[in-house]
Formats: sequence, structure tokens, C-alpha cells
Amino acid sequence: MSKDLDYLLKEKRIFEPSKTLVDDTNIKKWMDEHDISDYDELLEKAEENPKWFWDDLARELEWYKPYEKTFEWNPPHAEWFLNGKFNIIHNALDRHAKGTNKNKTAFLWESESGNVRRISYHELYIEVNKFANALKSLGIGKGDTVSIYLPMIPELPIAMLACAKIGAIHSVVFSGFWAKAFQDRINDAGSKVAITADGFPRRGKLLNLKENVDKILENTPTITNLIVVNHADVPVKMEGNRDVWWHEIMENMDTECSTEEMDPEDPLFILYTSGTTGKPKGVVHVHGGYAVGVYSTLKFVFDIKKDDVWWCAADIGWITGHSYIVYAPLLMGVTSLIYEGTPDYPDPGRIWDMIEKYGVSVFYTAPTTVRMFMKFGEEWPEKYDLSSLRLLGSVGEPINPEAWVWYYKIIGREKCPIMDTWWQTETGMHLITPLPISKLKPGSAVKPFPTVKADIVDDNGNSLVGNGGHLVIKSTWPSMFRTLYKDPDRYIEAYWSSFENTYLSGDVARKDEDGYFWIQGREDDVLNVAGHRISTAEVESALVSFPGVAEAAVVGKPDEIKGEEVCAFVVLKQNYIADENLEAALRHHVRCEIGPIATPVCVNMVSDLPKTRSGKIMRRVIKAKVKGEPVGDISTLANPEAVDEIHKLV
Ligand code: WT7
Repeated sequence: MSKDLDYLLKEKRIFEPSKTLVDDTNIKKWMDEHDISDYDELLEKAEENPKWFWDDLARELEWYKPYEKTFEWNPPHAEWFLNGKFNIIHNALDRHAKGTNKNKTAFLWESESGNVRRISYHELYIEVNKFANALKSLGIGKGDTVSIYLPMIPELPIAMLACAKIGAIHSVVFSGFWAKAFQDRINDAGSKVAITADGFPRRGKLLNLKENVDKILENTPTITNLIVVNHADVPVKMEGNRDVWWHEIMENMDTECSTEEMDPEDPLFILYTSGTTGKPKGVVHVHGGYAVGVYSTLKFVFDIKKDDVWWCAADIGWITGHSYIVYAPLLMGVTSLIYEGTPDYPDPGRIWDMIEKYGVSVFYTAPTTVRMFMKFGEEWPEKYDLSSLRLLGSVGEPINPEAWVWYYKIIGREKCPIMDTWWQTETGMHLITPLPISKLKPGSAVKPFPTVKADIVDDNGNSLVGNGGHLVIKSTWPSMFRTLYKDPDRYIEAYWSSFENTYLSGDVARKDEDGYFWIQGREDDVLNVAGHRISTAEVESALVSFPGVAEAAVVGKPDEIKGEEVCAFVVLKQNYIADENLEAALRHHVRCEIGPIATPVCVNMVSDLPKTRSGKIMRRVIKAKVKGEPVGDISTLANPEAVDEIHKLV
């Protein structure tokens, strides 16, 4: 670590944004208009009167028919903008394509090999209309689900927007997951149409997508058609009646397509996320509230203005990409950058080069990426002119103060406040986050977004200050998920049954005496690998599906760059021999079943797993051993030998 960094870290300084920056922010202007003099007053007034706050923002979007009531909150169910008529696409696309933003770049796309596509709002409008008509020609309409498995190419947002336009529900599956995950999610969603590509490049190597999709479509009875984008010229076999090329179906489509007038509470998309069981949860978001929530947070947290070049360097397959690459920037009518490749390809200068080249003004990434670049060294970003940057963002996992300070100093050159935004697939939008006017403490996500009532509570629901506890939310917010797809009971059980009328986030956090939130991590059996949620149960069920595996336990192993890595312990059935080949085969198997991010760094063969007398695996004990921490209370442990065996292995 350089001396300067060391100094900044020890200083425990509170980082204050400059007055020039503050005076020019959207939030400051809004406060001035509403006679609010400071941040605390803003939070106080908004919490007292959420209706006033959200009405003011909802007014900036266009409603086919004005809503009659801002929200109705009967925990755990909320409805927002009742009895209005709305479509997110009218706001994200139609109104810009026909107005002054017509020729402005909506998406600026760069391929891994460096090709560039600039798609204006009008061009995007035409493509979306054509694809919406293509979907209709395959029998897709309001309320139908469409499953999408595409890499980071413009066809991905086009497909999403086209679904929303005609009232269909998109279900995007991260293209880094293996096809088996796509199969399960198609079957859960019951989609008739699926969309994929021939393949895509990863670090210069072509990966085949279509070939893998072909295998799983044998097990998806609801699918009638597969639309295939020819992206990488990978040879594929098209299946007679089922498969159609994207470019062929688009050929004769009309360039106009009317936008379906929706109830604001109609579903917009399903996005699957990991929970504590092996079965992913289909998080459902809706047109109206989701639009208002993501629009408002991009406007106030990242302070986006019309000439900004905004880069959210996430994958569209995750909620970060849905909310802040696709929907929020378009709702604001700004330019959003989409990059197909990995950040350090072909060299660690790639993203800094792109920031310089496109004049990116606000940049949003994950702590794991920041830590990776710290390791490459300051000489890489220092080669580039990053003076276009005004604000920086962080999301996905806690950012350690050292990485925060590096990001602030080396990337932001000490003039860009860092917005450490805490939120989840379920919340749709930032919930605990600084605003660009807030004083910052490195490592803290600061305070709740205006109107949001967040708290830290103990097991009995009592508020805590200074100590770690459950991070909960005690209010509704517009882009709150409405349910879990086809599983309303699990919605209640997983999120709303621990405390009365209170949303349980599943995270542990601490609130300090200034009311600043410090997120510590997951409290359940969910790992956070490089900012991605992976359930231990999902990996365990992949492991036990392999011949010879009797039992498996998966825990997180701390990792300097990724935060956590997947670490597995397996017990083999009799007559199976533990050797290196088996370990490699198991790692490969998890990779194929779930995807590269879930691949265990180690698979340890053991003769038994620590269990309670009632036979439950004590993952907590294994985790403590892997972390080198005390194992704590083991009075319910039935087989101490198993702990000794693990102790010797780690
Ligand atoms: C989990 C949600 C929200 C988009 C990305 C992930 C962790 C997220 C932060 C942050 C500390 C964070 C939490 C949360 N997380 N942002 N700023 N500081 N932790 O979405 O896959 O739904 O994961 O990511 O543990 O529960 P997700």
C-alpha cells in the first residue's frame, strides 16, 4: 500500500463532497424547491410524508391515466399508483424517440474485440417495435412469459423492452450460468418462447450457447419457439419448426407497434435469485412502482443529468443491469454504456481506456472489481485521463475501507464521492445509500434513501445501535418486489415471517451513533462470490446429483479479491475412492450444473460431516473451521471426530 493510502485510511476522515459539486446536484435543486435546508431534514420530512415525496417524482413520468392513490400498504403486500394506466416502455422509449432525444444515443455498445455500436433512441424504438411484432407473430401477448439467455449484446435489452411493450413478462437468465439453470427457470416460468444467441467471445475464445440450449430444450415442454441471434458466427444446427433466426424474423416486421396500456401493478419481469434452499426464487417486479423507484434513485443517487455518459459495469442478467443499465437510464433519457467483455481484457487498462474514450461521467462497479484493479497496480489507471468522472458507485458486497480509499483516490482522483449502494434483487432499487450531498465514511452505505425506514434489530425485533443485527425494512417502497412467481407462501415465509410487518433482508449490519449503516454480509446460507448471490443449498444439490456423492456441505471461504469463494466438503458413498480426478470431476460438474461463478475452489473428501443429534449438518461449525475462527457452542454436536477431520484439512 502506498504511504498516501495508508495515511487516508488511518485518518478516519469523513469525506465531504465539494460545495460546487453539491450545489449542482439534482437532489440539492429539489431540496431548494421544497425549502429543505439539509440532508437530515430531507430524510425526516420524506419519512414523515412518503406520499408527498413519491408523488413529486411520479409526476415526472407520463401516465396514460393518472393514478388515484399513491400507495396502499397492507404488509406484506403493497400496491402503488392505484387505478392508473401506465407502461414503463412509453416512458423509457416512446416519449424519447418522438421527442428531443430522438437522435441521442440510448445505448453505446462496445464488443469485446472493440467494435462499437451507437443506438439512438429512435433506432432503439424501431428495433423494439419490430421485435415486439415478432414476438406477437409467435403468439406472445400480455401476461405471457419469455425466457431470455443472451450475452451482453444490444439484442438483450431490445428483447426485454419488446416484451414489456406488449405486456409480456421477461425472465432473463445470466448467460454465465450454464444451460441447466436456464432449463429450470424456463420450466418455473412456463415460457413459450426462449431467446438465445449462437455464442459469444470470452477472453478471445468463443463460447457456444445454442449448442447447450439445444440439450436442455428436450426438457422444457412449454417451449414452442427458440429465437437465435447470430452474434459470433458460431456454427449451429437450427431445429426445423422450433428455431428461428433473429435477423430473419425481424426482416418483414412493421416498425410501429402500439404500447400496451397496463395497470401499474401488472408484472414487468421475473428475475431468479438464490435463497436458502436449492430452488431459486422468482422475484416479481411490476411496471409502475419499479419505474418510479429506479428512475428516482438514478436521478438522486447518481445525480444523472441529460448530458451524462453513464456506465454501470454489471451484467444485464442481474438486477443491477436490469435496473441501472436498461430501465433507469432510458427512463431518464440518457446514454448508457454496455460493454460485452471482461474488464481486464485484453489488458488491465481496458475499462480506464473506455472511460477516457467515451468521457464517462458516472461509473458504477463492484468492490471485487476494484480489488482486482488494486492488485494490477496504480500504473494502469494512471495512464489514462479520467477527468470526465464526477461520481463513482459501488454495489454487490461490502466495500472494505482500503478498497474504498483506493477507488476514491486513484480512480476518482479525490474529487468523486463514492455512492456505496445497498440493495437487492428483491428491492429493485437502492435502499440504503449515500446521496451526492452526504458526508461519507469509507465502508459505510450511509443512510436509507428518502422515505425508507431501515433498522437493525435483535432476534426479538428490538432496535440496536452499535451492535450487529438483522437488517430490516419497516416501510414500503415503490419498486418493492410484489411476490415470488407462483410461490406466494414462500414470499411471506422467507421475508415477512420473522418480525411483524417488517421485511427481513437476510443481511447482518450495524448502525453507528450517527445513524450510518455498515453492512456486514449475509446471515443465511447464501454466499456472496464476487458480488453474486449463490446459495449453499444449490451447490450442495449439484454435488449430490453426481454419482458417488452421498452428502455435501458448502461454506464460504474468505478470499481477498472475490470476498468469498465456494468451499465444499463431500462424503462419498461406499466403494467410491477419493482422488484428484474425482475432485476435478466434481468441480467440473458444479460448473456445468450452475456456472463458472459457482465452481468450488476446493472439494474436500471427508468421512463424515459435523451434525446435530437430530442429523442436521452444522454448517456453522464447518464455516468457523474454514475461517479459522472459534467454533462456538457445540453442545448439540453428535460427532466431534468429524470436526477434527475438517480441522486437519483446512
Ligand atoms: C445482496 C443482494 C443489489 C445488486 C447486486 C446484488 C449484498 C449488495 C451491497 C452493498 C454490502 C451489499 C447484500 C445483499 N450487497 N449491495 N453496497 N454493501 N453488501 O443483488 O444478487 O440480490 O444480492 O448483495 O448481501 O443482500 P443480489
